Amino acid sequence: MTSFYGSLTIFYLSFLLLVIYQSLVGDAIDPTEGFISLPFNRSYYRIQKPYDLPENQRYSFINGVHKCWVLSTDKPHTPTSNTKPRTEISIHGYPYSSGVWQFEADAYVPTGTTGVSIMQIFGAEPPSATTLMIRVYDGSLTYYRDPVLVPNVYNKWFRLNVIHDVDAAKVKVYINGDLKLERDDRRGTSHYFKCGVYTQNDPSNCMESQWKNIKVLKKK
Ligand SMILES: *[C@@H]1O[C@H](CO)[C@@H](O)[C@H](O)[C@H]1NC(C)=O
Repeated sequence: MTSFYGSLTIFYLSFLLLVIYQSLVGDAIDPTEGFISLPFNRSYYRIQKPYDLPENQRYSFINGVHKCWVLSTDKPHTPTSNTKPRTEISIHGYPYSSGVWQFEADAYVPTGTTGVSIMQIFGAEPPSATTLMIRVYDGSLTYYRDPVLVPNVYNKWFRLNVIHDVDAAKVKVYINGDLKLERDDRRGTSHYFKCGVYTQNDPSNCMESQWKNIKVLKKK
């Protein structure tokens, strides 16, 4: 009898631990499983910032954290561009036109930043210039203007994974390991990833995002 109740207790405790574990971990997965992380250093990206300012007025890289900020009144990134102001880490070193590619990073957006794209997959079939934009509006992360991917992202680090399956023409967005969006891509012949701040509609005076552990990965 004792051993019967003993087994029952162990069974019950194991079950309880499993329930606790699942409620903590949720359904989060590692979206990078099956991908290879590619070399990433300054030779793979350049900083786009208002053309009339030195880089250190709008970008810093301290203790592994890239900080990008821009004012809604700033100039575009080139004298001839008529796009809105941006400070972006442009990963031109990994252009792609086929295969399955992934961008992973930890991102942080301070309170007040709004009306801005913080991550893009550049390249699409005209007239579209991008296959994906992740924006911030009033503290929510959105796919372009909608839908909302997650609310209340201000002032906390979150893990962003974006997968572009060019062959299947699909994009997927994961926040903290949870799949938040799956969409058709917007075609186009060449793509690369960008992150930072790129002014959109109804922007705050100052827009800022921070980035660390940036990786570009490719499916094996
Ligand atoms: C960046 O990484 C590449 C590939 O690993 C290497 O060849 C290159 O020297 C590195 N450049 C810098 C600036 O560290």
